[in-house]
Amino acid sequence: ATGYFSYDPGFTCTGSCLSAITFIDGPKGVCLYRGYSVPDLVDQAQALEVAYLLLVGEKPSVAQLAEFRKEIQKHMLVHEKVKAMFSNFTINAHPMAIMVAVIGALSCIFSELDPLDEEHRWLACKRLIAKVPVLACWAYKTSIGQPMMYPRADLSFAENFLYMMFATPMEEYQVNPVAAKAINAFMILHMDHEQNASTSTVRIAGSSQANPYACIAAGVASLWGPAHGGANEAVIKMLEEIGVPENVPNFVADVKAKKEGVRLMGFGHRVYKNYDPRAKVMKGLVAQVLQELGIEDPLLKVAQELEKVALADDYFVQRKLYPNVDYYSGIMLRALGIPTSMFTVMFAMSRTVGWVSQWNEMVSEGQMRIGRPRQLYVGPKERKWSESKGAG
Ligand code: SDX
Repeated sequence: ATGYFSYDPGFTCTGSCLSAITFIDGPKGVCLYRGYSVPDLVDQAQALEVAYLLLVGEKPSVAQLAEFRKEIQKHMLVHEKVKAMFSNFTINAHPMAIMVAVIGALSCIFSELDPLDEEHRWLACKRLIAKVPVLACWAYKTSIGQPMMYPRADLSFAENFLYMMFATPMEEYQVNPVAAKAINAFMILHMDHEQNASTSTVRIAGSSQANPYACIAAGVASLWGPAHGGANEAVIKMLEEIGVPENVPNFVADVKAKKEGVRLMGFGHRVYKNYDPRAKVMKGLVAQVLQELGIEDPLLKVAQELEKVALADDYFVQRKLYPNVDYYSGIMLRALGIPTSMFTVMFAMSRTVGWVSQWNEMVSEGQMRIGRPRQLYVGPKERKWSESKGAG
């Protein structure tokens, strides 16, 4: 009833799990990936190093990272039959709808996979980490009617993403190092977050030994909702509707009055009852990236004023509502030229690392049991059909 699953010591797993990947201390606002603080990793690590860390459990050596990078680059090639799917989507298809379809389609290409075979699992994890960013960029290119760009062997993970998003065959594209650093940080901040809704979706789907590509497609579907990964897109819509800092008090009054459909998007969290440590990093990053790119975004001033007013208001403080990872991230993505419709796709691209790591951790466990959450039954007691008169 609280939204948390119980863990049956008899290992008849009824829902959530034991995991060694991410640790969150909600009251203290702490988030660790395999024991390393996420803010430190954003400061000091490359996205691919952190992907290796989440998947394998340890920081890669130089040789291990070089080998992993080579493997990921090799798997960035996407089957031409999956590429052909993009021409069939309607022009206004939401990129997240496209992502659910094309990631699911990978299970048509790799249907022979045996999740209980360690080699097959490792291959599936690398293929998904490598292909999802390519599919994400192709979803964007399709939505603007531009040719899809193939990844390049000479670019890093973040650089390749920017290249595939913004390059065209008609001009020389220079990756902006500020933008590459911002994408690297964004990727790390969103990679994993223990048993959130989309990760639990992937685990439950994977617990039946289903094809992992289909399980990740299920995770994308769950992440899409505005209460979860779709919040970064909803925050921008909210800030645009507020418009200017002077309108913040009226908006806050509507939130407190629980006006229909009015929520402070990007605020609140089921686990953090303190400032989301990722939001703190993102807040600093946004100011730095906009300054380095010489961009003035009026929405940043609205967001800063809204945060200031909310954090000084008992309504939010009593309910322990603080900014979460989605509150500032959209403003940074806008500055990089990424359209709002792609914000949740960015989240999915990064969270694919966490999803495959968590799926792999679960499927590698001996005696994995199918997830089977229970319920509190509140329906009618047993009754006889022949004695029922029917409603009305
Ligand atoms: C992500 O789980 C994860 O780890 C998710 C995530 C990840 O990395 O995977 O961190 C990513 O999804 C972040 C959350 C993004 N979503 C949003 O920003 C949407 C806005 N936030 C809310 O919808 C809400 O805060 C949730 C869904 C995030 C959490 O909801 P809870 O824990 O179920 O809280 P609740 O609905 O029980 O609310 C408790 C009280 C209620 O008020 P009262 O009934 O006590 O009067 O707080 C209020 C709620 O009305 N409340 C809000 C609010 N969030 C909760 N009021 C206004 N604005 C909000 N955003």
